[in-house]
Amino acid sequence: MKEPLILGIESTCDETGIGLVRGCELLVDRTATSMDQYARYGGIIPEIASRAHLESFIPTLNAALDEAGVTLDDVDAIAVAGGPGLVGSLTVGICAAKALASSLGKPLYGVNHVIGHLAVDKLADGPLPERFIGLVVSGGHSNILLVNDIATDVQELGGTLDDAAGEAFDKVGRLLNLPYPGGPHVDRLSQAGDVNAIKFPRGLSGGKDKERHKYDFSFSGLKTAVARYIEGTEARGEAVNPEDVCAGFSEAVNDSLTAKAVRAALDTGCQTIVVGGGFSANSRLRALLAERAEASGLEVRLPPLRFCTDNGAQIAAMGSELVRAGVAPSDWNFSPDSGMPLTQTSMLPSA
Ligand code: KG4
Ligand code: ZN
Repeated sequence: MKEPLILGIESTCDETGIGLVRGCELLVDRTATSMDQYARYGGIIPEIASRAHLESFIPTLNAALDEAGVTLDDVDAIAVAGGPGLVGSLTVGICAAKALASSLGKPLYGVNHVIGHLAVDKLADGPLPERFIGLVVSGGHSNILLVNDIATDVQELGGTLDDAAGEAFDKVGRLLNLPYPGGPHVDRLSQAGDVNAIKFPRGLSGGKDKERHKYDFSFSGLKTAVARYIEGTEARGEAVNPEDVCAGFSEAVNDSLTAKAVRAALDTGCQTIVVGGGFSANSRLRALLAERAEASGLEVRLPPLRFCTDNGAQIAAMGSELVRAGVAPSDWNFSPDSGMPLTQTSMLPSA
């Protein structure tokens, strides 16, 4: 029997994403983004993002259906990102999803888009392992999750106490006057720098913090250390080498992320680490995690770059996991949850 066809709708931030998924098969993944409108502001403007979703939704949906050669009648269930994200942006996608689902008479699932960053990996690497460690790294999140069942049982082992990894990269990009978002630029420069030229501190890695915050991260002290280094160097009338700054900074972030993810896998007896989120495009994260996981006999699953940033396929993949697990559809009355807990896989059904 054919697995159900799931339509996924993503509108948590600047991307309007539409994906169609059947089991582990991706039929189509279409994205429109408003990111090019924010370069001059140095950050996302929520009102612009909401308006862009409104403008892009129907054209993106129609293009996706055409490309997949299916109609809305062929869809078995609809999944939409319910959070975390920007409330205005989420509202556009949820409104559209509710209208589609109620007019078509199809079940609707409001899903956690952050857990979707892990679910999408099944479209590239096949069915997810039964139990695994999820490392979610994006502009808004840096978390280590214990995933016992991606549809029903996700536990949060740790997260960042301040900045997320992508956010810290963007802030260092700003310190070095790089274009927004700075993350990819800092990554590019770091590849040409000397990792050992400047040694930056690793947060929560010594003394009592090491045990108390075993799986937590802190990147704001590191960002301050980078700012001090730049100020100090310039005050001495010396030139800052941006490549070396980026290399030392990137090493500090990725040393913490990878060491703690590997430790979590070993401590919980998980064989696999699945990585997801925009920051998983980072070159040093990919290399260092692969190296450390191999040394500890662990498998790493890293989705291809096109699945790392927000997309409709991750929401459809998450929807298909909920259907597989027999989770009841969400109640019609759910609304966006900008701070949706990472332990909540979907918006709850009515009582
Ligand atoms: O998951 P995502 O697309 O959006 C959020 O939901 O936050 O992640 C975007 C974040 C931004 O902070 C961006 O600068 C960062 O991921 N990023 C990178 C790289 N590519 C994207 N940071 C470091 N290295 C990269 N190659
Ligand atoms: Zn995301």
